[in-house]
Amino acid sequence: MARITAGVGCSHVPAIGVAMDTGITDQPYWQPVFKGFEKSREWIKEKNPDVIFLVYNDHCTVFDASCIPTFALGCAAEFAPADEGWGPRPVPVVKNHQKMASHIAQSLILDEFDITIMNEMEVDHGLTVPLSVMYGDKTPEDEWPALVIPLCVNVVQYPAPTGNRCYNLGKAIRRAVESFDEDLNVVIFGTGGMSHQLQYKRAGLINQEWDTAFLDRLTSDPVGLSQMPHVEYLREAGSEGVEMVMWHVMRGALDDDVTEVHRHYHVPASNTAVGHIILENKAS
Ligand code: DHB
Ligand code: FE
Repeated sequence: MARITAGVGCSHVPAIGVAMDTGITDQPYWQPVFKGFEKSREWIKEKNPDVIFLVYNDHCTVFDASCIPTFALGCAAEFAPADEGWGPRPVPVVKNHQKMASHIAQSLILDEFDITIMNEMEVDHGLTVPLSVMYGDKTPEDEWPALVIPLCVNVVQYPAPTGNRCYNLGKAIRRAVESFDEDLNVVIFGTGGMSHQLQYKRAGLINQEWDTAFLDRLTSDPVGLSQMPHVEYLREAGSEGVEMVMWHVMRGALDDDVTEVHRHYHVPASNTAVGHIILENKAS
């Protein structure tokens, strides 16, 4: 049986990818951002997941206003890094566990979560930056150490799914994973955030107090946290802070009672508060 053993929450700031790709991570601005991922890199090496189920959002790279799936599951054999305007990031192509992805698609839809099936898809910084910070520098000639099943969530075009829907989807993903008949260690990522606003009068908004409370409650009060209405994300964490709903998918897929094994928070990276947490199921 496949098992979800741990969850990773992680921001996806594009400039973090640029800092890695251009070799400037030891500059004073970036050094504290990357310092907080040193333990994470050791942890993931040790944990050595076979598969990462990676919940992320696309930023009008693959999807635009012509097609807005709320939840899109990557079922293709592989996913190339997308060109977001400066050429594709020089990182490996993401390889899927296609059989497991197909099984999850079937299980979710029969479990009444009607996801969109993507048999062709590129992936933007929303997916590649969390892999880079967790696994360190990789060139296009390398391979990511784990297979990756991407789940793309719409948080760009109103209406995004509710935190409650995301949390319950996490539970359905867990059922799907546990009904897959192969002995696999699966780690689930919830990505995006933390507080940030990229546009109009409140551009540059960061709310450290709110971010800290979110990280605290993710461990201690996940159900209560999942009930937070969209308007609170917008008001307290900025217009792009609503990316945080994706973390509920990760949390819903874990046990109620988890151990927080690592946390990192740093302001700023670009316009964003960088937040990162690692949660383990106690039995794992
Ligand atoms: C920034 C943050 C994001 O989440 C994003 O998708 C793009 C840019 C930023 O801080 O610059
Ligand atoms: Fe984003």
